[in-house]
Amino acid sequence: MAKKNPNTIGVKVLEQNGIDVKEIIKQLVYNASVEFTAYYYFTNLRMHCTGMEGEGIKGVVEDARLEDLSHFESCLSRIYELGGSLPNDAQDFIKMSGCEFLQLPQKKTGIKAILEKCLKAEQGAIMNWYKMCKMTFNKDFATYDIAKDILREEIEHEAWFLELLYGRPSGHMRRKFPGERPHTHRHSRALG
Ligand SMILES: [Fe+2]
Ligand SMILES: [Fe+2]
Repeated sequence: MAKKNPNTIGVKVLEQNGIDVKEIIKQLVYNASVEFTAYYYFTNLRMHCTGMEGEGIKGVVEDARLEDLSHFESCLSRIYELGGSLPNDAQDFIKMSGCEFLQLPQKKTGIKAILEKCLKAEQGAIMNWYKMCKMTFNKDFATYDIAKDILREEIEHEAWFLELLYGRPSGHMRRKFPGERPHTHRHSRALG
């Protein structure tokens, strides 16, 4: 029979170097919950970008939405490699994200309010991944590799929504295809 606690060198090297692996797992699961829940809410927000004004915005929300799914996927194998796991109850997972603010605005198709919510989500994600980068930089190279690629995409997403809301140029060109995820595709290969 397999040993209950097999020797996991990938975790031991971190512990031997004074890294709090439990803290990294905790932050990674939390960040994954935010990405997963944001993916859901962005789906609903995108659907409510209606009319002539909404049509152009829909595509930008879609690019950000599909990359959030990629960010969720990018966390998964690393959580388990580190010895962590996802909550068994999906409701616990969604609740821990604290993403209720992403529910539809009062006027469900209010484009400006939708964009403001998207921007707030991206800015929250930047803080989450910046924190993850700081926790792992020069310490846990494998987690850092994922975190810095996700952070790169979140910064792009923030710039897109800033441009749409305030006309601040972002250098933005649309993704070549929805789900391109230029920085995280190699961490979320399950998505094709
Ligand atoms: Fe994201
Ligand atoms: Fe994002």
